[in-house]
Amino acid sequence: MTKALHDVRIVDFTHVQSGPTCTQLLAWLGADVIKIERPGVGDITRSQLRDVPAADSLYFTMLNHNKRSLTLDTKTKEGLHLLEELIRISDVMVENFAPGVLDRMGLTWERVQELNPRIILASIKGFGPGPFEECKVYENIAQCVGGAASTTGFDDAVPTVTGAQIGDSGTGINLALGIVAALYQRKTTGRGQQVMASMQDGVLNLCRVKLRDQQRLQHGPLMEYPQYPHGSFGDTVPRAGNASGGGQPGSILKCKGWESDPNAYIYFVTQAQVWGDICDVIGRPEWRTDPGYATLEARLQNQDGVFAAIEAWTMTKTKFEVMAILNPLDIPCGPVLSMRELAADPALHATEILVEVDHPERGRYLTVGIPVKLSDSPAEITRSPLLGEHNADILRNVLKLDEAAIEKALESGALGRKRSTMAVS
Ligand code: COA
Repeated sequence: MTKALHDVRIVDFTHVQSGPTCTQLLAWLGADVIKIERPGVGDITRSQLRDVPAADSLYFTMLNHNKRSLTLDTKTKEGLHLLEELIRISDVMVENFAPGVLDRMGLTWERVQELNPRIILASIKGFGPGPFEECKVYENIAQCVGGAASTTGFDDAVPTVTGAQIGDSGTGINLALGIVAALYQRKTTGRGQQVMASMQDGVLNLCRVKLRDQQRLQHGPLMEYPQYPHGSFGDTVPRAGNASGGGQPGSILKCKGWESDPNAYIYFVTQAQVWGDICDVIGRPEWRTDPGYATLEARLQNQDGVFAAIEAWTMTKTKFEVMAILNPLDIPCGPVLSMRELAADPALHATEILVEVDHPERGRYLTVGIPVKLSDSPAEITRSPLLGEHNADILRNVLKLDEAAIEKALESGALGRKRSTMAVS
């Protein structure tokens, strides 16, 4: 079966997490992704957070599946020449260098267009145009400047970042969407275009509901926040703890075993539609009609009391028992699952959102597969490339160099030390 992007060739000039997330997704959708890496070193993540000596780290392998690796020192004349030849015959180039890096290399947008007017040049930067546009940005910086940190955590504690990589992986996903749309538009215009995604924009987009609340504040307190009705609101959206953030109040509640298990908790939503069943389940059937509890408005005046009563019930059961009782009643809830529990979940393996991959240096490891499924373009997860693994293949079969040209490229040192660069074909 052909894959959705089977005829798309991508020059992947990305590193660390944000850019590689984007190109990995496109590779899973069938694009031929050629990762350009510095000879001898490669993407810096190959050696960061290493768990197995001398093997590519999980940091790298889990972000670079289904790609090919070509080592090129693009600061040498021959290296830049080979990269430019690749640009001429590719559909997309993706990069997430610090601002100005591509220009310094001589690859301005004008130059890239000159080489190939059909190419899409897709970039991730920390910020869009403005006072911070020259700044370097990593994940947690993006979470801070995009509004996530100021609205995450608890009122009486420091701003908090989340473990979900909303700045890096989130922005990579945005870029992938932009690239696919630009490829689609090219079908009618015949032209490539620039696609830009800023990490600050990406995080702010995910914090849309908090900007909603900033404006709601002008018209009164935010009744679904834990600060209501006893605390006070200032002039900006406060940290909401574990409140639901929507029209149906919710909270994280202790379950049996919470004293020793840091994840013995469940998220419980007191959805108005099923309030009667909630009352019955927790042994408070009289709350169905009690004016102090019967309406959402009344419950918002007493959120602490409502959740304390529900928690008194959830603490008598494990999080999975709570789930088993509530689900048949359509009461929305979800256990707090640890990474250990997720990694062992057979249902997640069955759908291939968790996949085991074999790797020549490190053996088998677990990774996250594609989070979106296409019935006509199923993704098959293959291991990340070793550094320069596809040098020979790409010079011969993609750039179509003859033996003399290959020898010249190797002699130049642009691919690294000559003996090691063509070992694998
Ligand atoms: N051959 C030769 N040189 C290469 C090369 C290659 N194959 N690949 C990269 N380089 C060089 C670049 O030319 C650049 O050199 P220069 O500064 O002399 O021009 C340098 O390596 C890489 O630059 P930079 O992007 O600044 O790397 P960094 O490690 O200092 O910064 C980031 C890392 C992530 C902070 C920065 O790239 C950034 O802000 N990127 C945009 C936002 C982003 O994506 N952040 C999230 C990352 S998960």
